[in-house]
Amino acid sequence: MKRALGVCYYPEHWPEAQWSDDAARMAQAGIGWVRIGEFAWARMEPAPGTFDWGWLDRAIATLGAAGLQVVLGTPTATPPRWMIDRHPDMLAVDAQGRPRKFGSRRHYCFSHLGYREESRRITRLMAERYGANPHVAAWQTDNEYACHDTVLSYSDAARAGFRDWLAQKYQSPGALNRAWGNVFWSMDYADWAQIDLPNLTVTEPNPSHSLDFRRYSSDAVVAFNRIQTDEIRKYSSAPIAHNYMGRVTDFDHFAVGADLDIASWDSYPLGFLSDRIEADDPFKARFLRQGHPDNQAFHHDLYRAVGRGRWWIMEQQPGPVNWAPFNPAPLPGMCRLWAWEAFAHGAEVVSYFRWRQAPFAQEQMHAGLLRPDSAPAPALAEVTQVARELAAMPDVGTARGDVAIVFDYESAWAWDVQPQGRDFEFFRLAFAAYRACRRAGLNVDIIPPDTADLAPWPVVLAPGLMTLSAPLRAALAAYRGIALIGPRSDTKTADLAIPVPLGPNIPGLDVTVSLAESLPPIADEPLAGGGRFLSWFEHLEGSAPVLERTIGGRPAIMGGAHLRYLAGWPDDATFDRLVRGLAAQAGLVTHDLPEGLRIRDSATHRFVFNYAPEPLVWQGVTIPAAGVHWQPL
Ligand code: GAL
Repeated sequence: MKRALGVCYYPEHWPEAQWSDDAARMAQAGIGWVRIGEFAWARMEPAPGTFDWGWLDRAIATLGAAGLQVVLGTPTATPPRWMIDRHPDMLAVDAQGRPRKFGSRRHYCFSHLGYREESRRITRLMAERYGANPHVAAWQTDNEYACHDTVLSYSDAARAGFRDWLAQKYQSPGALNRAWGNVFWSMDYADWAQIDLPNLTVTEPNPSHSLDFRRYSSDAVVAFNRIQTDEIRKYSSAPIAHNYMGRVTDFDHFAVGADLDIASWDSYPLGFLSDRIEADDPFKARFLRQGHPDNQAFHHDLYRAVGRGRWWIMEQQPGPVNWAPFNPAPLPGMCRLWAWEAFAHGAEVVSYFRWRQAPFAQEQMHAGLLRPDSAPAPALAEVTQVARELAAMPDVGTARGDVAIVFDYESAWAWDVQPQGRDFEFFRLAFAAYRACRRAGLNVDIIPPDTADLAPWPVVLAPGLMTLSAPLRAALAAYRGIALIGPRSDTKTADLAIPVPLGPNIPGLDVTVSLAESLPPIADEPLAGGGRFLSWFEHLEGSAPVLERTIGGRPAIMGGAHLRYLAGWPDDATFDRLVRGLAAQAGLVTHDLPEGLRIRDSATHRFVFNYAPEPLVWQGVTIPAAGVHWQPL
């Protein structure tokens, strides 16, 4: 397979006379794919039932004539204003009970059945019209589910849907009362109609209630998406993608991904560093114009799993964005580095957002590959260079990881609902484990929580899993590599209650968490072997050998040759020590990488990326700031 480049384009933003020149310049730059359509509902259907497809027909024809393949997006993230008159109650409602109004985007509630039908209708019309169009070579459903915090909605539609979902799950209010423990505080329900959404309560709602609402809300995204994939598949055999986001756990991406052919994600490394990643100021200053050296890779590996091997970058940052607290420009070379890093992790396509900077509306300060006056912006030359390099290079393939990290969206919801310590967040813990692997130069695969066979990986990390799925529990019991489980893993039931016997309950690992404590940033739990636990520390009992202790003498790691339980949240230095130790025992080679240098093996090449703002040396090769080096394996 040949990897390719793409770009996001909005023909409706530009005079039609400009389209063919734009298309020719895209093709000339070496771009092969162009995504269009995802916000253009008001131009497709300017009034209810009145359609204007002519412009879209001509846009697709113009792009196709230039040799470009089109990704056609359904426009359901931006229902037109008339839609709100038709369905005044379709707006999502925030946790304070306020409707989220028209005037930007994503102003819909996933649970609203009327809007689901509208979404089916526009998707069917597009699929009927373009499903056999030779230029439409892929589809995108909606745009960035969850963006702007839109998964949880406390609307009437959500309440009705939630009650129905609960009735199907529990069959009787008595079963629900038992599962949630509603005897506590006299919260018993006698009828489904008595159950409200878990917002605006006096103090915290029952955590099991909140967790079920998170599950319901995730299922609503899955159902919404499936309506579109069902319609598209009736008329088109082109693959279907959705563009996911960075650091978003609000719905189960594996479940949405099961209905899609390709996972894609929108990578804005500088926006994320400014806005979504915890790091100290010196680190943020060092990587200001390059992004966090592990954040992109983490999401590449996550979405490779979500896409069952098939994944793209649908939107790649080309210059300053507009939405982060601060919006610096990338260091020259980073637009090339980010693309090659994605290809090294197996991306099929890297598509830049957007072709030309729009001089109007919300994103007028967001860079494109062209400036608003159509002159090239700095990224265009880098894109052109990547296109040339891709053309000259044989396919790089995707390698199997050395280490697997289990990633579980339900656990993210569980710990959001019940953090127990302010800092306990599933994503942060999984990312901390991932960063340690990367600093050791290891290739990582992220794997779903129902993985039934762990044999491909010499080392498995399973931090923060609320409970274990039956397949994963069995896979761990049979595992012959080294698995480090915990902290806070398998210590709850699926109802978010404490199991008896206390967890973890993994065959072959006699360890019990007898007590869990969370620690404020001013405290830690130092370890006898060096380093410390932060934020979280569990007291362990059991007959399994103690492999490490705290300075105070409590078990820090217990277990045997294959299964081990980690009692706390290690700081970075401790994670480094633990990961390197596991790798050495498993016979894996680790590396001492200077800060900012990262490596990733594809099936055929070793890639070395310099995220640092100065040149770094790798095995005698000097790699400039923002430089990429590759060599055959
Ligand atoms: C993404 C979104 C795009 C655009 C972009 C700006 O979140 O999908 O439509 O808004 O951000 O960076």
